[in-house]
Amino acid sequence: MAAKVDLSPTDRILLHLGEIGARRCSITDESIAAETDPDMRQVLLGLLVLHEDLSYSSQLRYEAEAALRLVADERERLLEDRRLAISARDQFLAVAAHELRTPLTALSLLVDHLLMGISPEAATEITPSPLRGPQLPRLKRQIDRLTGLVSEMLDVSRITGGGLDLVVGPVDLGMLVREIVDRFEPELQRRQITLELTAAEVVRGHWDGARIDQVVTNLMSNAIKYGEGKPIQITVRAEGARAMVVVRDHGVGIPADEQNKIFGPFARAVAARHHAGLGLGLWIAHKIVQASNGRIKLDSAPGEGAAFTVELPL
Ligand SMILES: Nc1ncnc2c1ncn2[C@@H]1O[C@H](COP(=O)(O)OP(=O)(O)OP(=O)(O)O)[C@@H](O)[C@H]1O
Ligand SMILES: [Mg+2]
Repeated sequence: MAAKVDLSPTDRILLHLGEIGARRCSITDESIAAETDPDMRQVLLGLLVLHEDLSYSSQLRYEAEAALRLVADERERLLEDRRLAISARDQFLAVAAHELRTPLTALSLLVDHLLMGISPEAATEITPSPLRGPQLPRLKRQIDRLTGLVSEMLDVSRITGGGLDLVVGPVDLGMLVREIVDRFEPELQRRQITLELTAAEVVRGHWDGARIDQVVTNLMSNAIKYGEGKPIQITVRAEGARAMVVVRDHGVGIPADEQNKIFGPFARAVAARHHAGLGLGLWIAHKIVQASNGRIKLDSAPGEGAAFTVELPL
């Protein structure tokens, strides 16, 4: 620092400021004491304080950054733990649902065979039979319900674990909906619900038939569940570049503030309290329709029923 003696006061200050900017400082208590000019002594003292303040705040910043890094590491570890736990849960769900389906299918087939031994009316009207009793159709319905729940479990794990794989092929929408309606016939008869299907035109497109079946089946089962026994109307039609299926009931309806929520997982509107269900059907249906580049619309008011419209690209 001997060279500094020849520097002007301004240059000396600039030199120190440069040092301080580079987180260094050659000013010491001794160099301040040795300074003969009292003004310069004050300036040097101020610069030393500035340097110490800056050092202190950068130390604080360093410590804060280290603490933040620790928090971020901990958060990452917790997230990883959570990811592992979720993946273990989903794996369990997938394996459990898959394993449960095998005995259920066998059981369902067995009951179908037993039911075939009974007249078709008896299968729906539950007439006592000395051999099989009136419980058989009920057993069949419980097995179907259990099968439905297990399938929903499997779909949840598929959707949360990376989406649905669609198997797209040619589908005659009117025929598909007719098949679904036929499948519901025994239940409609048992509950004395009339259903009107309007499928005037042929509507053909390329979709995953089994998944679209699942969507319409859920909408129909909801119309039966929440339709208070009133007539149900289903319409299949084409409109421009879209195929439409409308399922309309005249039951409890859905309040405006619940209409968006019911498409979420495990979402059940207040009126659903008295009916069995996981609140997954519409969520799964929505995901399937979304994956098929379509959409579901809802038109409903409390006490006035609900109309669900599925739109699919043609
Ligand atoms: N047609 C309808 N009329 C009135 N409310 C309905 C209708 N369809 C659905 N909802 C309401 O939306 C909720 C969600 O429907 P969703 O099909 O997802 O579940 P869920 O039928 O209760 O059970 P799950 O389909 O899993 O067996 C229902 O619980 C019910 O409150
Ligand atoms: Mg449902």
